Amino acid sequence: MTKIMNKLPTFITERLILREVTEADAPSYEKNFVDYEVISQLTAAVPWPYPEGGVLDYLRTQIFPHQGKDRWVWAIFLKENPEEAIGCIDLWREAKPENRGFWLGRKYWGRGIMTEAVEPVMDYAFNVLGFEKIILANAVGNERSRRIKEKNGAYLLRTEPAKFVNPTYTEHEIWELTKEQWELRRKNENAQ
Ligand SMILES: CC(C)(COP(=O)(O)OP(=O)(O)OC[C@H]1O[C@@H](n2cnc3c(N)ncnc32)[C@H](O)[C@@H]1OP(=O)(O)O)[C@@H](O)C(=O)NCCC(=O)NCCS
Repeated sequence: MTKIMNKLPTFITERLILREVTEADAPSYEKNFVDYEVISQLTAAVPWPYPEGGVLDYLRTQIFPHQGKDRWVWAIFLKENPEEAIGCIDLWREAKPENRGFWLGRKYWGRGIMTEAVEPVMDYAFNVLGFEKIILANAVGNERSRRIKEKNGAYLLRTEPAKFVNPTYTEHEIWELTKEQWELRRKNENAQ
């Protein structure tokens, strides 16, 4: 029997399991992702209405060929339900303009889940993948996403025009998080 090696490490946090996204995750990914409340906050490059079967197609064409090479995509699971992908977090080497993206199913918002999920991913980005800085972006008006950047210790660089699925969003904020800032934040937290 051929054993398929994972390309990405699995992270276990207090409440979560983050492991590389696979084809088997497509149904739960679709269930939690295909929701205007989630997709409307994303760049206008994401189609809406979202096509049927679009998640599997996206995973096969945009993710799997790049996984562990220039893109790293983890599905997020609650420990109590390790079969259901409730969100995703990903990194990409080339900033466009950002290097990190994330989404979470609506019913899981506001419980600190993404705040918890970004921790091991940022550690991995800086300590294993060798990023010296990570560029982050969010629509002006996406307060939840903005708050995570603030909590990460990122600096706001600029605001500029951008298009989102929700056409009332017309600008995005660009942030920078350096390895140094990330380590400093850690040190300060440990000192408390
Ligand atoms: C952005 C997203 C991933 C956040 O995930 P989450 O698990 O709900 O986030 P958390 O609970 O870890 O943190 C959200 C923070 O925003 C705060 N927040 C929530 N609603 C808010 C609001 N309306 N105004 C201001 N702050 C708000 C929370 O209080 C929390 O901050 P705190 O820890 O200081 O209290 C989730 O809302 C999502 O998937 N949205 C749709 C997709 C998306 O926006 N992706 C990002 C594109 S840039």
